[in-house]
Amino acid sequence: MAQPQQRPAQGVVRFYNFLPEGRSFLDEVLTGLARPHKALPPKYFYDARGCDLFEQICESPEYYPTRTELAIMSEHAAAMASFLGPDCQLIEFGSGSSRKTRLLLEQLQPPLYVPIDIAGEALHAAAAGLAQLFPWLNINGVCADYTKPLTLPVFVGVPIRKKAVYFPGSTIGNFTPQEAIEFLQLARRMVGAGGALLIGVDLKKDKSLLDAAYDDAAGVTAAFNLNLLARINRELGGDFQLRRFRHHAFYDENKGWIEMHLESLASQFVHVGGERFHFRQGETILTEISCKYSVDEFRAVAQRGGFAPGETWTDAANLFSVHGMIAT
Ligand code: TRP
Repeated sequence: MAQPQQRPAQGVVRFYNFLPEGRSFLDEVLTGLARPHKALPPKYFYDARGCDLFEQICESPEYYPTRTELAIMSEHAAAMASFLGPDCQLIEFGSGSSRKTRLLLEQLQPPLYVPIDIAGEALHAAAAGLAQLFPWLNINGVCADYTKPLTLPVFVGVPIRKKAVYFPGSTIGNFTPQEAIEFLQLARRMVGAGGALLIGVDLKKDKSLLDAAYDDAAGVTAAFNLNLLARINRELGGDFQLRRFRHHAFYDENKGWIEMHLESLASQFVHVGGERFHFRQGETILTEISCKYSVDEFRAVAQRGGFAPGETWTDAANLFSVHGMIAT
């Protein structure tokens, strides 16, 4: 009798919501605005409107990182998959729209894919798209703030030889180098001994190119930055007048990072959650930094985070790098 043809089993898709209930957005906004140098955490950029604007940033002509990292992935995804090895559980931080991940999943065919993102709707949409594309793929979607320690759900019944963290988009640059070390230590604990890290890191380059990438001519990045104030108005009943603030982003060559600010165009008061905050004319809220590294500088940071350098892939113009590293 003829053997029935072997088909890969249908994958299982599950979601977990580990977001804290309640006041954390309000608390963090009130704390940030009360600081001598006002600052807001960048993770709150990503409401539905913010996710949409961020996708547009990634397509803007000035923002070279997305297309460059995608090109590196399409050229080297097979080499990256063999660096990570077979039966490797893939854990992705800040999965967003998962375009780069598709290239990796195709080659790696992992027994389990665990995307972690603070944006629940984007996470669901991306997982649904991947499940369509890769019907065999097991997905444990985790909605969580990955800047805090978290315990991953277990998934039994599939062979898992090792764990790898995938952290694309140069999101590691949105931490200071010291915070990046601490974050990598968390990732190191998550993958365990013998685990791996595949991480996208934007490289140091000409200030003019960097300045333009974070202040595109069409004003998408400005709209993205200002949407944080609009979100505070919408969700926390704030009364920011968006026309009285402007986006200001620049590369600081001494610090080696981009700073993104919202600058008050007048002396003014703003109310949030029953509290009143004064802004001087020219005073700014720091909303994000984006550190730029040389390949060697990043390897040194990773080493202190518990990962030994393995392979590095870059583009011909040396704009961007992707590092494969092994937990030490
Ligand atoms: N990780 C991205 C980066 O540092 C995030 C980013 C790109 C970003 N453009 C932005 C964040 C504009 C805030 C505003 O490049």
